[in-house]
Amino acid sequence: MKVLTWIAGAALTLLGGCFQDNTAQRSSFLPLDYQTTFRPVRDCRQVVEHQNSYQKVLTNPVASDPYTTASYPLPVGSVVVAEQYGDDSSCGSLNGYYLMAKEKQGYDNAGNDWHWQKLDLNGRIEQDGKLQACSSCHQAKCAASDYLCSPP
Ligand code: HEC
Repeated sequence: MKVLTWIAGAALTLLGGCFQDNTAQRSSFLPLDYQTTFRPVRDCRQVVEHQNSYQKVLTNPVASDPYTTASYPLPVGSVVVAEQYGDDSSCGSLNGYYLMAKEKQGYDNAGNDWHWQKLDLNGRIEQDGKLQACSSCHQAKCAASDYLCSPP
């Protein structure tokens, strides 16, 4: 009996340890299978405004048609993700993500209700929310296209 109590106690301690994990959360906007469920909408290119990083843009099913036909604003539930490849001009080795997700009206009136995220290589959140640094530049350059800046 004593042994059993000890085992139960050890298991609880271990579980408790797991729940205290401080690792950043994976973004709920980027499904694990996004590479098969999202559609590529912009080819590999260098973006001066993103620290000269090469990037590819993909969209979820809600956003694909409006994005490619330039029907603005994009609907609620749209997710637009830019895979970041640093200085790899062939877009072969991924090093992170820049992401925009369209929230319900009122989330951020001044920012066209875009939710911004910067993610690491594993899709874990590094920066999240109404990110001024992202939205101010996208607004200044691309207000007429619902803050979307990548030309066809
Ligand atoms: C200094 C200006 C600037 C800043 C700051 C900036 N961006 Fe961008 N972003 C651009 C431009 C310009 C493009 C389009 C580049 C191209 O395809 O030629 C772009 C493209 C994108 C795209 C692809 C979708 C599209 O059509 O716009 C996403 C997603 C994105 N940025 C997210 C972000 C996020 C998230 C941040 C903040 C962490 C951010 N950006 C910061 C200028 C900026």
